[in-house]
Amino acid sequence: MRVDLDEAESLILAGELVAVPTETVYGLAADALNDDALDRLYRAKGRPSDHPVILHVADLAMARPYMSKVSLAIEALTEAFWPGPLTLLVERSAKVSDRITGGRLTVGVRSPKAPLAQELLRRLGRPFVAPSANRFGHVSPTTAAHVEEEFFGRVAVLDGGACSVGIESTIVAVRDDALEILRPGALGGDALGAVVNLPIRALGGDDLGVPGTLASHYAPRQKLTLVSGENLDAPDLKGVVVLSFGEKAWANEAQVIVLPTDPEGYARELYRAIRLAEAKEPREIWVETVPFGDRWDAVRDRLGRAATK
Ligand code: TXA
Ligand code: MG
Repeated sequence: MRVDLDEAESLILAGELVAVPTETVYGLAADALNDDALDRLYRAKGRPSDHPVILHVADLAMARPYMSKVSLAIEALTEAFWPGPLTLLVERSAKVSDRITGGRLTVGVRSPKAPLAQELLRRLGRPFVAPSANRFGHVSPTTAAHVEEEFFGRVAVLDGGACSVGIESTIVAVRDDALEILRPGALGGDALGAVVNLPIRALGGDDLGVPGTLASHYAPRQKLTLVSGENLDAPDLKGVVVLSFGEKAWANEAQVIVLPTDPEGYARELYRAIRLAEAKEPREIWVETVPFGDRWDAVRDRLGRAATK
């Protein structure tokens, strides 16, 4: 069911869920101050209740009551990058429900830039929480139609077209006098480092203290394998859908989906491409590996998690 801003506002205030377009991915929004709405959200996603969700705010002023203290570095980051694809992990205040943080002492806060999300937050005058609007473990949605696929049309959707960034926000925390990147995103270490005078630590591996960064996440239904370019043009690719990095000549029967060769373009189209591949019901999905280097960190992270272990 597609809804307009008025309906979205009423539904959220009534404790219902609404899928909302942000610049990163669609989020499934619920009133942050209503525990019944939060319970409904966890049930709809099939998400374990100890997985924290991100508080979405119009701006820093809306966020302050939920943060127990705001360091200069955090303030500088909000000034430079909010609204935008940056989630800040900060100490929470007593106003934040345990259902939002899974009982943690920190809360993730972000101000989305997409106009409909901003407008909805301003009308509500209070935050909503919004995990990506997919069922737990599956690929995040970047269009209204993707959300409808995920929830069989049973969720109200505010349609804002395709998301401009296409992958989830960068998550950072200031810890031990460093800025830690807990989930890489469109906003990279260089941009962040230009604003805060702290060393940047990009955390790798699966033990980040961010439960949503489970090794297996963002995953399609079929086996997904990362394959380097030179091994891609195998003789028998019947029944395989290949996500190719840029155009090339194909000598076999593979069904190919071509992705852009710049990291921003690639990120914008990645989840749509994975869903398209899934819908062809292939025997397997092969994804050509992307180049080394920081600019590809976020995309490489998502591909690593989407790959079958
Ligand atoms: O771009 C985004 O961030 C999107 C859009 C909808 O805003 N949202 C999103 O939410 O990606 P979700 O729930 O799919 O992922 C949030 C991640 C999870 O890995 C969660 O574990 C982590 O943020 N997280 C949130 N609050 C946290 C906290 N207090 N401590 C540790 N990790 C936290
Ligand atoms: Mg998610």
